[in-house]
Amino acid sequence: MIERSLVLVKPDAMERGLSGEIVKRIEEAGMTLIGIKMLHMDMALAERHYAPHREKPFFKSLTSYISSAPIVAAVFEGEGAVERIRKLMGTTDPAKAAEGTIRGDLGIDIEHNSVHGSDSVETAKNEIDLFFKKDELFIY
Ligand code: RTP
Ligand code: MG
Repeated sequence: MIERSLVLVKPDAMERGLSGEIVKRIEEAGMTLIGIKMLHMDMALAERHYAPHREKPFFKSLTSYISSAPIVAAVFEGEGAVERIRKLMGTTDPAKAAEGTIRGDLGIDIEHNSVHGSDSVETAKNEIDLFFKKDELFIY
């Protein structure tokens, strides 16, 4: 199945100049970049993006962090893109993420874990709509 996934390069990775490295790893895995932008998320967008985590103890910290500095948002398309990108990212906590994964190699800690990727096709649809207008996505 050809799927889409929303990827965010989080502030810790932006700060270290790793946006290109993260996009490159996903492109090299065969995913096609169909949209990309830089933006500084406000708290309202952060709360919508992370709405499924509203009840979690780390919600305030998570939304403050993701809206603390400019980020890169990108949409990738490809065969099984959601799961493929989740595998490339590695597990949520960089300390537990395998070597060779983005978080395993570049992540700092569970909050500063460098990258976000959609966790299902349904979530991806909602997330992409939050960040991109139709004419900001390019079909080859
Ligand atoms: P993401 O949504 O950012 O791609 O990360 P994920 O799917 O791997 O993890 P998720 O469960 O969706 O959690 C979202 C973000 O919340 C932070 N988190 N902190 N302190 C904690 O126990 C904790 N658990 C999760 C992480 O920064 C995670 O990326
Ligand atoms: Mg998630």
